Amino acid sequence: MSLPSKVKIVEVGPRDGLQNEKETIPAEVKIELVDRLTDAGFINIEAASFVSPKWVPQMATSAEVMDKIRRKPGVVYSALTPNMKGFEAALAAGADEVVIFGAASEAFSQRNINCSIAESIERFRDVAQAAKQHNIRLRGSISCSFGCPYQGEVPADSVADVVRRLKELGCDEIDIADTIGVGTPKQVQAVMERVAKEFPIERLSGHFHDTYGQATANIYASMEVGISIFHSSVAGLGGCPYAKGATGNVSTEDVLFLMNGLGVDTGIDLDKVVDAGQFISQHLGRKAASRTGNAIAAKRAG
Ligand code: HMG
Ligand code: MG
Repeated sequence: MSLPSKVKIVEVGPRDGLQNEKETIPAEVKIELVDRLTDAGFINIEAASFVSPKWVPQMATSAEVMDKIRRKPGVVYSALTPNMKGFEAALAAGADEVVIFGAASEAFSQRNINCSIAESIERFRDVAQAAKQHNIRLRGSISCSFGCPYQGEVPADSVADVVRRLKELGCDEIDIADTIGVGTPKQVQAVMERVAKEFPIERLSGHFHDTYGQATANIYASMEVGISIFHSSVAGLGGCPYAKGATGNVSTEDVLFLMNGLGVDTGIDLDKVVDAGQFISQHLGRKAASRTGNAIAAKRAG
């Protein structure tokens, strides 16, 4: 199969990227980050998470962030909503898309959202119905689709089973997520081909963390089998609070360098993303976890 001529990049840095930071990041910094990303040309930015602040304290400012970002018409600003309480908050905050997040592994489901996979689907049912009622896009995310920190191997059929259930709930898009970044290209292709039997491939996305350095290879492998939506995080920010040792999402700058080299259209301005990455890294007081971001910044400094 030839590669897609165009891909959608969902920028998840403001949510997946920042949720794991220990020091509280002021809302103004998060808002400036989202505004810079909007300006760079993303059409979908995961900006907030309406979860329990006891579980993920960093996301407690999500309502303020959603209220104060400069929204560009046509851009989808997404928020995580594990239950109806989260949905009500996302609705009040004007989220364009809500994300229900489950797992392909029972052990991870328990640690991350404190219930079994079956129970999570029941909780999501109300959220899904409410999203449809309010005409809000609904996305489903499946953690540990290529391996679990507690259970180890995860069979492709388990991922397919959750895809089927999320499809029944009416998800517009479904993310196949490598939470701990252990997937490798052939495995990724096998899982993507398996789940594409359950859900239209053009609405499946690859959400890769780069823990073992395989993320760009996995993205390329996914494109070879027809996936055309990918998640990434500016400056490679991130890690999941319930997946010890997992590093950030693949860095957006690296993904854009790959796409630009392949001639695959993203509609995003790499230079502006590099600026956004340097901005947030400076605030966090560390170097960006992006090869491309740091290379371009070094070249500029000359
Ligand atoms: P629980 O303790 O079972 O829930 O947590 P509960 O219903 O018994 O509520 C306990 C308390 O939380 C109550 O407060 C609720 O009001 C409050 P209290 O009465 O004790 O003061 N609460 C909430 N507060 C604000 N917003 C809410 C909310 N819900 C309940 N929505 C729950 C269950 C799901 C809430 C909890 O486990 C939770 O918040 N988990 C979130 C975990 C999380 O955010 N993980 C990271 C995101 S997932 C991810 O990063 C993976 C992804 O990137 C893909 C990948 O890479 O794999 C998407
Ligand atoms: Mg993630």
